[in-house]
Amino acid sequence: MRNSIQKMLALGGIVGILFTSSGCSAQAVRWGQQAPSLPPQEEVVEATPEPTDWVGSKHIDTMVEQTQGPLSPSGKSYAYYETVEPTYIDGVLLVNKEYALPRAYGDGEDATAYQALLKLQQGAQRAGYSMPLMSGYRSFETQEELYNDYVAVDGEEKADTYSAWPGHSEHQTGLAFDVGWVDLQFAQTGAGQWLAKHAHEYGFIIRYPKDKESITGYQYEPWHIRYLGVDLAEKVYESGLCLEEYLGVV
Ligand code: DAL
Ligand code: ZN
Repeated sequence: MRNSIQKMLALGGIVGILFTSSGCSAQAVRWGQQAPSLPPQEEVVEATPEPTDWVGSKHIDTMVEQTQGPLSPSGKSYAYYETVEPTYIDGVLLVNKEYALPRAYGDGEDATAYQALLKLQQGAQRAGYSMPLMSGYRSFETQEELYNDYVAVDGEEKADTYSAWPGHSEHQTGLAFDVGWVDLQFAQTGAGQWLAKHAHEYGFIIRYPKDKESITGYQYEPWHIRYLGVDLAEKVYESGLCLEEYLGVV
């Protein structure tokens, strides 16, 4: 998986830096069959180092931390999420495994999306279905706790198929809601079928459709809806495409 590869590369970077800075290159020569004999070198006069607050390896370690730092579950450094900018494609905020939100983004449900959700719930009620809100806005930190809990239960590879990394959840946009029943069987219920058929009339799409797992990166989630506004939601619905396909970022 791309995620695992990214993580391996990132970890490899750190190991590489540490390996070099901890004197292991001298070991490598000792382990070799024969150290190559080098031609006589001109004496190199080293420049006097600039005064620094850091001493010896402490300085180097800190530099490593600043450029790389601790890694988040995505394989990117936590520092990345301090400065990353939200991505808009044709005016649509796109959040997925590739496009992230900054840590501090959002502070609750988007007011317009929430009003649309209330209307959707009323519509479901009129049709005889209950459509309770199960999860709305989630901060970076809440998503991190959730993801870590899932990893503890199911392991990382499985968790990655249904839970977003912190900074990569649509729930952090305030535009996404889990409604009805957070279970695959929801798709077979009357409420789940009503949602699939009518969500767009209220401005929502089923964000992680069946058979689009390889594009969205997530398993089918018949309960997760994303607000786009009625015009765009209807277009996406009619197209039969998932959001990434519709926006042309596949
Ligand atoms: N379950 C979706 C992918 C999320 O965690 O945001
Ligand atoms: Zn969700």
